[in-house]
Amino acid sequence: MDTPKINKSKLPRHIAIIMDGNGRWAKKRLMPRTMGHRAGMTTLKTTVKTCAELGIEYLTVFAFSTENWKRPADEVDYLMKLLVEYLGKELRELHQENIKINVIGAYHDLPSECLVQVEEALSLTRNNTGMVFNIALNYGSRREIIRAVQNIASKVQNGLLSPGDIDEKTIANELYSCNIPDPDLLIRTAGEMRISNFLLWQIAYTELWFSSKLWPEFTKDELLRAISDYGQRERRFGGLT
Ligand code: IPE
Ligand code: IPE
Ligand code: MG
Repeated sequence: MDTPKINKSKLPRHIAIIMDGNGRWAKKRLMPRTMGHRAGMTTLKTTVKTCAELGIEYLTVFAFSTENWKRPADEVDYLMKLLVEYLGKELRELHQENIKINVIGAYHDLPSECLVQVEEALSLTRNNTGMVFNIALNYGSRREIIRAVQNIASKVQNGLLSPGDIDEKTIANELYSCNIPDPDLLIRTAGEMRISNFLLWQIAYTELWFSSKLWPEFTKDELLRAISDYGQRERRFGGLT
């Protein structure tokens, strides 16, 4: 297949990705699931690089959900170790490329080695002005919304806000994603047609794109296909064109 053509004037500002299918990729090769996660890390590197080169402003990836704690402890441990390894190895280069790392989710509840690595990544890249690389870690959209409602309720209780003044902005400002525009394009790999508690508020008008490729085999060309398809879509936001 030819490399898809990208219309630079119709690039999504923000791409979000549900990176799925690592376990199935490993299973197909009779390997432990953890090897699938390791292979997925390579896809992530390529994806970050491609998005930054194209001039995408925000890339959000779903790395670990609030529901992923239900997995066997050794798989969860491996994912945490892989996160530390990924940031440890990639941080200098990401920083050199002027990429700003941001994290959404209850990342303070991650094991302390992860937290230390995440905080180093956030502080080192804090003033970078290139692509925002937003990592969803221990992220669940419903938990994010509950937290927002609690914060808003406290403001009302303390007389700082009246219920009638609560609008879309009030809610968006209390989400982890408060500094990031809504995704324009959401990609999910591995053929699964569901959202799995990812960015429920933020994707109200996001264009969805599903790939049958498992995450470790999601190539640069497949990403370009998603972006190229996005360029053909007509977004109406409930209006008419
Ligand atoms: C995605 O791959 C990675 C995470 C959820 C952390 P999976 O581990 O969900 O792979 P499958 O869906 O079992 O193939
Ligand atoms: C979603 O994938 C979470 C991440 C990619 C981190 P899952 O594999 O956890 O989703 P379900 O369980 O198939 O819905
Ligand atoms: Mg999965």
